[in-house]
Amino acid sequence: KRTWRVGVAGLGTVGAGLLNFLSEQPDFAPAGGRAVVTGVSARSKSRQRPVDISNLPWFDDAAQLAASPDNDIFVELIGGSDGPAKVAVETALKAGKPVVTANKALIAEHGAELAALAEAQGVPLLFEAAVMGGTPAVKMLREAMVGDDVKSLAGILNGTCNYILTEMEASGRPFADVLADAQRLGYAEADPTMDVGGFDAAHKISILAALAFGCAPNYAAAEIEGIDQIDILDIRMAKDLGYRIKLVASADRSPDGVLVRVHPSLAPLNHPLAQAGGALNALFIEGTRIGRIFIQGPGAGSGPTAAAVAADIADVMTAATRPVFQGPAKSLAPFTPVDPRKS
Ligand code: HSE
Repeated sequence: KRTWRVGVAGLGTVGAGLLNFLSEQPDFAPAGGRAVVTGVSARSKSRQRPVDISNLPWFDDAAQLAASPDNDIFVELIGGSDGPAKVAVETALKAGKPVVTANKALIAEHGAELAALAEAQGVPLLFEAAVMGGTPAVKMLREAMVGDDVKSLAGILNGTCNYILTEMEASGRPFADVLADAQRLGYAEADPTMDVGGFDAAHKISILAALAFGCAPNYAAAEIEGIDQIDILDIRMAKDLGYRIKLVASADRSPDGVLVRVHPSLAPLNHPLAQAGGALNALFIEGTRIGRIFIQGPGAGSGPTAAAVAADIADVMTAATRPVFQGPAKSLAPFTPVDPRKS
């Protein structure tokens, strides 16, 4: 059975979870082989982490790890749409190495060009963990729903915001207190403005829209409003009227183009989106032939997100091949945005 050598760049919540998982279960995908970590890289070597890296080869520079002949699969868990994450992913792809990433900002903002590079090199670029953490939305749209014409998507795609809204309602504690909890639990981004400003959810819905509608991601076209202006009074008044405030991300296709939005919405209390509490993510997919599908599950946190990264590593090991989005990257155009004020 082949041993696949895995280089992991970025040792935050997800990276530490992945290292622990692979050291305990290197044979988790028996059809593909054994996955063993043979190199790591992060901003600081000495930082306290819930994983022992003392016996693993260390690289100061993620791009060096990406180029190293000592690993066969490069896993990027650094985050950020530009900077070291992008350089390292490009380096790995140019070296003809499969890449697995959890980086939604990178894929939402540079997905089309990276897909073209991956396809030119004939290597996979996989990002299941970028959207909905451990809940398999990417594989569902890219693989299982390729036989349908998706009309719309709507859901809760940011665990931090969902946790904050749920806890504010349950405990009456103010926004800043509950945000600090979400950070402690490992849900929030390094810069929580990405979460509470709606930008993280916008990255994710842009990726799902690209997969659903067969176009390139177009994050720049997303209409974005976060939850930073919501206070306890809004939540209480909504509840008195029979609603719960949720940060909803949606993508709707029409003959004019695609409308991608993130904004606080009122969901009736008995609606599945209103009932998805805590850090849960949830998604409705409306297809022309399949009809309506609803999935719900963990969208953030170490274990669930590491499981999604591992599923992509398994796809590389079993040589499961698909285009990065739905068609050859060089022929994909960004979707045409629809102005929400005119819809
Ligand atoms: N900060 C993100 C969230 C992490 O809260 O959903 C998972 O992408």
